[in-house]
Order: sequence, then C-alpha cells, then structure tokens
Amino acid sequence: MNFVCTKCGKKTPTTTLSPNCECGGLFELPETSVPFNSDLIDTHEWSQFRYRAFMNIEGDAWKEVTMGEGRTPIIKFNDDVLLKMDYMMPTLSFKDRGAATLVAHMKAIGVKKCVQDSSGNAGVAVAAYCARSGIECEIYVPEGTSPKKISMIEAFGAKAVVVPGSRDHCADVCRSKVKEEGAYYANHVFNPFFYEGTKTYIYETYEQLGRIPENIFIELGNGTLFIGAIKALEQLLESKTINHFPQIIAIQAEGCSPFYQTVKQEAEELVDIIPQLTMAEGIAIGKPARAKEILEMIKKHRIRVVEAPEDKILDARKALAKKGVYAEHTTAAALCAYDKYCEDYGETKEALLCMCGAGIKSDH
Ligand SMILES: Cc1ncc(COP(=O)(O)O)c(C=O)c1O
Ligand SMILES: [Zn+2]
Repeated sequence: MNFVCTKCGKKTPTTTLSPNCECGGLFELPETSVPFNSDLIDTHEWSQFRYRAFMNIEGDAWKEVTMGEGRTPIIKFNDDVLLKMDYMMPTLSFKDRGAATLVAHMKAIGVKKCVQDSSGNAGVAVAAYCARSGIECEIYVPEGTSPKKISMIEAFGAKAVVVPGSRDHCADVCRSKVKEEGAYYANHVFNPFFYEGTKTYIYETYEQLGRIPENIFIELGNGTLFIGAIKALEQLLESKTINHFPQIIAIQAEGCSPFYQTVKQEAEELVDIIPQLTMAEGIAIGKPARAKEILEMIKKHRIRVVEAPEDKILDARKALAKKGVYAEHTTAAALCAYDKYCEDYGETKEALLCMCGAGIKSDH
C-alpha cells in the first residue's frame, strides 16, 4: 500500500519511516475500495477490528495489539441527546481507536522506538499500545497537562517530557526531534493509520442504532475524531447505506477556536488566533496540521462550528454527573456546546455527543 501526499500527490510506500512526504506535505491513505456493507462486519471479533473490511489496514498485526477497544455503548442523556461512551476504553478515551491501528502498523513495519506529542489522551493511548507491543516511546506533553495523564504515560513505561509553553509549541519541539534525530513520529495527527481507527466511531454507531443520528456533535482540536468520522460517513453515503449526510457540528473551545473564527470571518485559510487558557485542554489547538483538509470538509458538508462557553464547562460536567456520567472537562465542553447550539439554531433533537474522555483524568 502507498501513502499519497496531500500537497504534491506523490506516492510513498506505507513502510516508510518518514512522517511526511519529501515536499513537506502530509500523507493520506487512498480511499478503501470496499464499500460499506453490514454483511462484511466480522461479528465474531469483539473489538473495532470487526470493521476491518472497510479499514485501510494491512496484515494481522492488529491481533496482537488489540485490547478490545471500540464497542462502546450509546446511552440516553435525555429525549434529544444520545451519548456515545467512548471513555469506556482501555486507556479511558476515544484515542484508543486510533492508537490501536497506528501501533499495529508500527509493529507490522518493525518500529522499535518512537516519539509523539499530545495534549495527554493520545499520548496515554499510544504509550499503552506501545507497551503491549514492546515499542519504546517518549511522549511530549505541554505544561499544564493533567498530572493523571502524565502518571498513566509513565505507568506504561514511556518517558513523559513536559514542555513549557503552549500545546502548539510542544508539537514544534517534538517535531524538531523527529527531524534532527530521525525518530519515528507516532503522531495521531500526521500518521493516516490513526484515522483508520477513528472511522470505526461511525461504523459502530450505525451498527448499534441501525441508523445515523441527524445531528452529530464532534469535538475539534486537531481533528482526529472529526476526520475519521467524516471519512466513514462519506463511505456510508457512497455505499448508499445512508441517503443523506447528517448535520455535523464541530465543537471548539471558546478560548481557542481557529475554525470557528475562520468560518465566522468567511476566510479561505485558517485564521491566526492567540490561544487562551481553557479548561478544554484536549481541543486547545491553535494551528492544527490538517487545517486545510478540515476546512474543505467543513465547506463540502456544510458543517457548523460552535464554541463551548468556558464558564459553562463545570456546570455541564455536573449535569452529566447527575446522570451518572463522569466526564473530563474537555468532554463536558461538548454538552455546553450542545446547549449553545440550541440557543443559536433552535431546539435540536436526534443529537449524538461523544463522551471522549473519562472524568478521572482531569482535576476535580
Ligand atoms: C477528551 C478529548 N476530547 C476531544 C479531543 C479532540 O481530538 P482532536 O484533537 O483529535 O480533534 C481530545 C484530543 O486530545 C481529547 O483528549
Ligand atoms: Zn509531496
């Protein structure tokens, strides 16, 4: 299989150890040739890999790597809102979906050591799957990352490097290490195999409900869940499994909302913002590497972008807890963004929200 460069179109074998194309462009994987078809779900496989017929993955490395990720319940929050409980995963966040496919790929091509930068959850997930696969890893996290996430990274035997400054700066520091030392970049944003895992969020929703809800709210930082979900929905549409695209609502933090600002200003390219401190640390990304791809998707599917009001995050967390759902701050932001969306666009039924990360991971 080959990666295709999103900038110059050049093909590079997926066995490459390079994080991007020679021209500096990011890689993507070609569209899978197998249309979605419920009959091809491997119902004997009790993990997200039951959908592997529609995922661009090679070989059987996933069998040794999987920890049964995926298969998360969808529960009712109220008559209008459904919650997909993606924190019910081995490392307590949706990132396990992508980490499982990424690390399976790394194992298949013989990677022994890697580096990665993360706001926390992706680092925790990659560290866990690397531990399971005997791959050494070093995770760069920005200062201010929840101590619980750092403890988890270290518990898995990975080295956690705390970088002073913003999340974007942390990524720059890690990427210079990749450039200077040639370290394998096990990054959830750069490496297209990560999105093959997050695509399963949608396949699974379809299998569970027998339909796709009309309004799907997705938190948007770097866009790993967002891009995976859109790709999977495009597959469902192309295979005529669904007859229209649902309304997607992308959620950004009030203190750090480059896509919200770009759409509001009707700008062609991502606008520059100065990230403010936000409780929604998981989506505090000022300069997402795949901004161009995401903006194209926003345009193509008439996606709406909403800001989660910072001063409502803790109340939303309490409202979820009152229903027995203990979510981390970034995840609670999804519920207050839903409320804000209803204020702006009117009552919204048939809404699906992702409970991305567990409450135990943020401060109390
Ligand atoms: C809890 C939580 N929700 C949402 C996100 C957003 O994911 P992404 O940055 O890939 O858009 C993250 C990312 O770390 C996260 O940790
Ligand atoms: Zn290129």
